[in-house]
Amino acid sequence: MLRVEGLSHAFKNGGETTLVLQNINFHVRKGEMIALLGSSGSGKSTLLNLMAGLMKPTEGEIYIADHNIVKMNENKLAEFRRKHIGFIFQAYELLPNLTVRENIEMPLVFQSTRPSVRKQKALQLLEQVGIPDKAELFPSQLSGGQQQRVSIARSLITEPSVIFADEPTGNLDTKTEEEILAILKRLNQTMDTTFIIVTHEREVAQQTQKIITLRDGQLQTSQPAVDPQAEAEEVQA
Ligand SMILES: Nc1ncnc2c1ncn2[C@@H]1O[C@H](COP(=O)(O)OP(=O)(O)OP(=O)(O)O)[C@@H](O)[C@H]1O
Ligand SMILES: [Mg+2]
Repeated sequence: MLRVEGLSHAFKNGGETTLVLQNINFHVRKGEMIALLGSSGSGKSTLLNLMAGLMKPTEGEIYIADHNIVKMNENKLAEFRRKHIGFIFQAYELLPNLTVRENIEMPLVFQSTRPSVRKQKALQLLEQVGIPDKAELFPSQLSGGQQQRVSIARSLITEPSVIFADEPTGNLDTKTEEEILAILKRLNQTMDTTFIIVTHEREVAQQTQKIITLRDGQLQTSQPAVDPQAEAEEVQA
């Protein structure tokens, strides 16, 4: 589903070059839920933005569903992103002058989907993220956790192959964080969408199927999180 090969990235500021990612290699299978863990400044957002095609790496290849997004020109990439990639931001990034429903419909506006179809899909997703009654409110009338639910719904409306989330619960309290993670897990299971979630909290990472850890620009480990089912089987054995 997603394959990263020999990925390196350096930022140039004036005469100074900062090497942020160094020869990163890994792959993610379809339907997997992966946590990208690492301390502040370790390069998590950089890696996520590269995989989401928001910028080009200094070196290396990124394949999404067998398409090399590094090699795509700007127009092709923009189209590919609209069809295949969803993004959830820490700060929600909802448009303040649009209602909740209109925000969720937004990605489909660019795909010239019929308004009635858009609306129906948006309302269905609002139901799935647990706030069906908020459709006609504006983002400022919602709590942080509710706004993040809206942004999750927005990321799903195009039925993307993969969703990248950069600290989706970073601005939320522990209880709301758990609720949002439960929603992501359920959507991952019911829709078979691949999720890659950046976090610096180990508790969040433990909720996923696999953890990828970045340290000093390198992939340190790729260990599976504790799988409750495997653990139960182990206990039984
Ligand atoms: N546009 C940029 N220009 C120069 N350096 C940058 C740029 N963006 C990020 N960096 C540097 O790259 C490194 C990694 O940044 P990145 O945002 O990927 O870290 P992060 O792991 O997401 O951290 P956090 O947990 O604080 O969000 C940092 O040292 C940062 O200063
Ligand atoms: Mg970051």
